[in-house]
Amino acid sequence: MPAFTATAPGKVILCGEHAVVYGQPALAVPVMGVRTRAVVRAEPQRPPSTARIQAPQIDLDDEWAHLPEDHPLRRCVSLVFQECGARQFPAFRLRLTSTIPIAAGLGSGAAAAVATIRALAAFLGHPLPVERVSALAFEVEKLHHGTPSGIDNTVIAYAQPIYYRKDLPLERLKVTRPFSLLIADSGVPSPTALTVAEVRRRWEADKEKYEALFSAMGEIARAARQLIEGGEPEQLGPLMTQNHALLREIGVSSPKLDRLVNVACKMGAYGAKLSGGGRGGNVIVLSPEDQVESLIFALTEAGAVRVIVTRVTSAIGGRRA
Ligand code: MEV
Repeated sequence: MPAFTATAPGKVILCGEHAVVYGQPALAVPVMGVRTRAVVRAEPQRPPSTARIQAPQIDLDDEWAHLPEDHPLRRCVSLVFQECGARQFPAFRLRLTSTIPIAAGLGSGAAAAVATIRALAAFLGHPLPVERVSALAFEVEKLHHGTPSGIDNTVIAYAQPIYYRKDLPLERLKVTRPFSLLIADSGVPSPTALTVAEVRRRWEADKEKYEALFSAMGEIARAARQLIEGGEPEQLGPLMTQNHALLREIGVSSPKLDRLVNVACKMGAYGAKLSGGGRGGNVIVLSPEDQVESLIFALTEAGAVRVIVTRVTSAIGGRRA
């Protein structure tokens, strides 16, 4: 029996998280070194229209129909059936494995959705174009985040750097001169749904203050785009650190994230910031090429549980753009 396999990368937000939920631009890049893989196989010995879902990393091994209606993987499967007009389907097993740390701000939920949607649609004989994959994954993101902007599913489905504004056509981010980023995991889970909801409550209580903070973040994203497209990525550092200060001000940083950012800046980084929902998760660090190793040690000493180095290029899904 042939297996239908799809993979999806992780992601980091370069700048503009949270503000992007309120219509400001944000920049995001895929992290190709970590991935989620979905494999769908027919199981002809089992009754038709049954499906087994296995995701060992989250201790899941169950019948599709037994999962709660709002389980993200159940939602993925239902959305693909709907999209492909499949009322009856041959019995199958879906197995998900991932090297993307869970709840670390690296888009593990969106990557699981993208890989599952692609593999299952191919299994049903209806491979989907990337914009439909992204749109269906966005529906699943609503279960994770409540009011997502759509940036995570978009950067992961397209697997290339993006300049993203909610509800507007996708703009690709042209990386004129590739650069490296360190991604330092604080080891503390990032409760994105919670931080997004908290920020919303604070915005509702003081719209003027929060709109001003969000538009300052939007300015940073616009300026960062110019630097990246103009081939001056090292100039991004101060913008990243300013973005971190604004994220602190909206209440989504933590003493550990602040410590990692401060240590990185003190030890020679061009700049650093938290990335994603915040409170936990990752700090991203822009490092001079010759300081990468010493910064990895400094971040580890300051409490990072893992440091990944990723290369930011315009390549699509690892291929040249
Ligand atoms: C999460 O990666 C980014 C947030 O801005 C939420 C969203 O845009 O959906 C915090």
